[in-house]
Amino acid sequence: MNKAEFYSELNSQIKALCDSEPNLIANLANISAVLFERLADINWAGFYVVGDSVDKSRQELVLGPFQGRAACVRIPFGRGVCGTAVSTQQSMLVEDVHDFDGHIACDAASRSEVVVPIVVNDVVVAVLDIDSPIESRFDKDDQVGLESLVTFIEEIWA
Ligand code: SME
Repeated sequence: MNKAEFYSELNSQIKALCDSEPNLIANLANISAVLFERLADINWAGFYVVGDSVDKSRQELVLGPFQGRAACVRIPFGRGVCGTAVSTQQSMLVEDVHDFDGHIACDAASRSEVVVPIVVNDVVVAVLDIDSPIESRFDKDDQVGLESLVTFIEEIWA
């Protein structure tokens, strides 16, 4: 099975899992679990969401549903791989986090990372973040497959 086939099948599984469940947190939690279980050689999979229920003017990401080791809770826009994905509204494919200026190391074991912004009505509402302990774990095929997943997440975002 090549990566395109793998992500097609994975995304079908995720859509079936979220089918008829309207609660976003529950769906993001289950999506994290499926990604963590099915993607080989990763050590973290989950979401950072935009917004702060206490101070809505703060321009930062807050930790959302995830699987893996406990992670840093708040990431300002423009900081780290995740905050850069928000600022640029572009997916980030980082082959070696040691070469990414400003990378935020939640787990010293992480070596490569892919981050895809979740954009609803032209505004970034969250990011999908996946880390691997292996250098260059993610390639363009992973990015395309995960962007397809994020298109589905954007559709169910509420
Ligand atoms: N490495 C990320 C921080 C989040 S952890 O990977 C879970 C970053 O640089 O934004």
